[in-house]
Amino acid sequence: MKVNGTPYRSIWPNKNGWSADIIDQTRLPHEFIIKTLSSLQDAAEAISVMRVRGAPLIGATAAYGLALAMHEDTTDEYLERAVKTLLATRPTAVNLRWALSRMQQVLSVSPAGERVTKAYAMATKICDEDVAINHAIGQHALGVIRDLWQQKPAGTESFHILTHCNAGWLATVDWGTALSAIYQAYDDGIPIHVWVDETRPRNQGAALTAWELQSHGIEHDVIVDNAGGHLMQHGQVDMVITGTDRTARNGDVCNKIGTYLKALAAFDNDVPFYVALPGPTIDWQMRDGVNGIPIEKRDSVEVTHVTGKTATGQIESVQITPDGVSASNYAFDVTPARLVTGLFTERGVCDASEDGLLGLYPEQAGSGL
Ligand code: MRU
Repeated sequence: MKVNGTPYRSIWPNKNGWSADIIDQTRLPHEFIIKTLSSLQDAAEAISVMRVRGAPLIGATAAYGLALAMHEDTTDEYLERAVKTLLATRPTAVNLRWALSRMQQVLSVSPAGERVTKAYAMATKICDEDVAINHAIGQHALGVIRDLWQQKPAGTESFHILTHCNAGWLATVDWGTALSAIYQAYDDGIPIHVWVDETRPRNQGAALTAWELQSHGIEHDVIVDNAGGHLMQHGQVDMVITGTDRTARNGDVCNKIGTYLKALAAFDNDVPFYVALPGPTIDWQMRDGVNGIPIEKRDSVEVTHVTGKTATGQIESVQITPDGVSASNYAFDVTPARLVTGLFTERGVCDASEDGLLGLYPEQAGSGL
């Protein structure tokens, strides 16, 4: 997508031919800083401190992390150590495990002398595929959005979509998942307005989704996380679309903390609740998302403090709780499949169920059992 007229991806090869460049998302929306990852440690650090985040981008960065590791040392021991280091960065998004095992399958059977070239080629492939997948997700979602829009009474001015967290191009290599649907509906002429959940504690909605939508010229309002239920009760939300970090085989979807509450409110108010995901976000081995998906717990400082721009333009973090308070920071929750109207994937739209998913990915019928 474009930033001030220049097309960007969220990760791309540095011109030195071996490093990878990223947009440091911890600095957005106030500063647009490009950071170069030049080692396995750089890649692991970028994922854990969330310079890069979002399930597909975590996978893509891990792929580059292994390529950087091979640039450092092509031995089997180092390959194994690098996989372990990257796997330990964040536990919930399954794209991390998916990208690493895809890379490892190729690298483990390649002679040491070929590993560097193969690792970079595979990292590039994973990124290019992600872009194509996310574009296709938006194309399939467009049909559903168009149908819902056409059901609105004549004279309706806007079609209101609520989204949570950031499932935009910054969370993927390009396009995004939930926002790919929104971009393509807007580009198709549907008068989209987006309710953007701020998404405490890290405010990915307020900081990143709002920045993306503003850059694309899409009307939006940032709302506090608890406003969605009220808006739905009063007919001001036509549809909810979120992303997901891991979708279980049974259609349960894990996403940023607070998504479950939005799904409950949507269910209670008959608001369609859709989740957009690329195939690599499906964990075919996970039969029960609610009870099985590991939920990341992050530093409580993310809850006790907020970071923002002061009146003098400084970026500062301030404490909002009493000194010494105890805080818990659960980063994700799982929405049971029964609350999900449907899934937008690169292969089409399906029910949130094992049958629905297998209808689109029949080759996975025997996997993970
Ligand atoms: O903690 P984050 O910012 O990595 O969480 C991101 C999300 O929850 C996104 O909604 C999810 O990764 C889907 S992005 C296409």
